[in-house]
Amino acid sequence: MNIVIINGPNLNLLGEREPKIYGKETLKSIEKKCKEHAKKNKIKVDFFQSNIEGEIVTKIQKSRDKFDGLIINAAAFTHTSVAILDALNLVKIPKIEVHISNIFHREEFRHKSLISSAVNGLICGLGSQGYILAIDAIKKIIKDNK
Ligand code: DQA
Repeated sequence: MNIVIINGPNLNLLGEREPKIYGKETLKSIEKKCKEHAKKNKIKVDFFQSNIEGEIVTKIQKSRDKFDGLIINAAAFTHTSVAILDALNLVKIPKIEVHISNIFHREEFRHKSLISSAVNGLICGLGSQGYILAIDAIKKIIKDNK
């Protein structure tokens, strides 16, 4: 089983970025935890981050015949990007949206995700643990679909 985990803008600065909201863990450490957890479950992970919307769109497009599942934290693009929504809609593999913070407990502009209609499910507000839960969930969806 091969999955891709896609991270959007500013998540490269986790650890120093608003630690009261996002915690003190770095993206590198989240990547390590995800890869360790995935390995125990016989899953290979491609962990990707970009601050550039077009790079994320291209990564999603290329996922369609490369991966069995996709996990995405589109960060701020969650609330703005029709291009990422459209890309997710053309990729017919199981997809899960993750947010570290509870977007519904924050500013009103974060309450709306433009991409949620294109994913199987959404995990938010559980910190970096959300990524691990998303790996478990996507594994089950992929298995059940076989
Ligand atoms: C985020 C929530 C977004 O609203 C924000 O723009 C982010 C991170 C999260 O993981 O909680 O950059 O996606």
